[in-house]
Amino acid sequence: MGQAEGRLVEIKLEGETVAGRIACPDALRPAPGQYLVANRVDDPTEALAYPLFPTGMAADLSPIPDHWAPGARLALRGPLGHGFHLPSTSRRVCLAAYQCGLARLLPLAVQALEHGAEVTLVMDALPPVGMTYHLPAVVEVVPFEAFPEALAWADSLALDTPAGSLEGLLTRFRLEKRQAQALNAQVLVDTPLPCSGLADCGVCAVPASRSWALACKDGPVFDLAALMGERS
Ligand code: FES
Repeated sequence: MGQAEGRLVEIKLEGETVAGRIACPDALRPAPGQYLVANRVDDPTEALAYPLFPTGMAADLSPIPDHWAPGARLALRGPLGHGFHLPSTSRRVCLAAYQCGLARLLPLAVQALEHGAEVTLVMDALPPVGMTYHLPAVVEVVPFEAFPEALAWADSLALDTPAGSLEGLLTRFRLEKRQAQALNAQVLVDTPLPCSGLADCGVCAVPASRSWALACKDGPVFDLAALMGERS
């Protein structure tokens, strides 16, 4: 983990997400699913550091707060947490965003395509006309009704979902623990990270198989099976 000053150099829309292009040293760049935390240097009233996740098809984009403006100087710390691990043998990768945006999964799509894998993206609703994720034509995008077919096709699964929605997702699609293990399934838990592990505030706690886990330190990417309790 390192610290450095970065700068917000551009703001753009990435799908439904307001994303910023962050200039910073390469050593601080988080891998897919990891994050940096940032405070604006010029605004000491901003008490909490904001987590910056890689997003979209470019390595230097991240969702940002609406009120940040281009040129903002950022005190950065990271990379933090555990990101996605995509096996080099993966050939059919299913990326699914459930009740959240797709953008944080797209850096993993880039990685999978670089490995020569096929990629299917599953999302709650297909994007409205005019909303773009800058996806290459080889990437298939399907709605969640097609999730069972995508699971049957895939050899790896990566999810992004709010912590409170995971159980509903597993129940709705009857996803079982042995299926998650066979798929090397991982989940990026979407949850507030107010202290990013500095104060053990516990706000990011998620129920794990035998106890609780902290998304900021133990995640925010978890093996899905580890969050599935005693589900068979
Ligand atoms: S964000 Fe405070 S313990 Fe995780």
